[in-house]
Amino acid sequence: MSMGFPYSRAVSGVLDLTPYQPGKPVEELEREYGIASAIKLASNENPLGPSPLALAALHENGESLARYPDASGFALKAVLADRLGVSARQITLGNGSNDVLDLLARAFVAPGEIVVFSQFAFLVYALVTKAVGGVPLVVPAVDWGHDLPAIAESAAARPKLIYLANPNNPTGTYFPKSDLDSFLKRVPGDVLVVLDEAYCEYVERSDYPDGVRLIQQHPNLVVTRTFSKIHGLAGLRIGYAVASEEITDLLNRVRQPFNVSSVAQAAAMAGLEDPDHVSRSRSNNDRQLTRTREFCVKLGLEYIPSVANFLTVKFGEQSSDIYDGLLRKGVIVRPVANYQMPEYLRVTMGRPAEMDALFDALAALSAA
Ligand SMILES: Cc1ncc(COP(=O)(O)O)c(C=O)c1O
Repeated sequence: MSMGFPYSRAVSGVLDLTPYQPGKPVEELEREYGIASAIKLASNENPLGPSPLALAALHENGESLARYPDASGFALKAVLADRLGVSARQITLGNGSNDVLDLLARAFVAPGEIVVFSQFAFLVYALVTKAVGGVPLVVPAVDWGHDLPAIAESAAARPKLIYLANPNNPTGTYFPKSDLDSFLKRVPGDVLVVLDEAYCEYVERSDYPDGVRLIQQHPNLVVTRTFSKIHGLAGLRIGYAVASEEITDLLNRVRQPFNVSSVAQAAAMAGLEDPDHVSRSRSNNDRQLTRTREFCVKLGLEYIPSVANFLTVKFGEQSSDIYDGLLRKGVIVRPVANYQMPEYLRVTMGRPAEMDALFDALAALSAA
């Protein structure tokens, strides 16, 4: 890459960045391959879409679009605070939870300071760290999951912040409450621990910890969640962080005042009023995960055990051919070579018919 202007003028962390590679949009595949209706299983979105209540709220609030949104997110924060058993002063709203992950780095990490996360952890942690000139310290994974004792040991390097994903994307791995408890006891109280729970609503394990309940006991803990996944509102961009009032105060100093649109706030509030939609989405996910695991076993494909809404499957050296073959058949999955996992593809759980189409396409490709 040329180091002339403007690269010579960019801050050093930015030169080191590779832009986040999103899943291929349906429209792009349809345009490129002349496919009438593509199936997207590439971005861990909810195949059932948003709750009908959220859609109604979107329409009802359309007329207010000429006005700026409520910068304080008063109404949504009140509902969230009530549900989560925290004060509204402990909640920071974001333009997706990506935004709050970024705010955390911007509020707390200065150039040259260390930020810890696991190998195979969600790529945005590296991105937001480097963008502020922070130095990533990547702790090797164990069985694709976070090695919490080793991450706790890395606190000896005096990091400013530690990002943990539970479950993690793209591996779908999770850690139980007992491990998180011991971890939080070991990490010094002046190191921020950010627990990313983007997929928490999908997890059905009795030992899965609810991070929000641990905040009072551990004031250095920040929990991030999103409306993009089980609530099916990825396109609207809304997520949030829960933390102490003091951390929240600092995050709100760097937050852009109108970072969450009025319609996103209204739809999120409505979505929270529809627990049936959440449970329908969870049951569909469970069923499709089971079917996909069974399909993999039948075809002799290895996969990484996942508790989220996707399964990461090993295709070995054929993985990029399989990815291309699936595209030609109108199915978009996600390569994870950018996670140094070139032999794997990540598959988001879709509707039953979408999964049928994936299985048929995979069976045809592996028979070819
Ligand atoms: C682990 C994890 N955290 C956070 C996010 C960010 O999602 P959003 O910005 O849509 O809330 C994602 C999205 O894929 C994710 O996989």
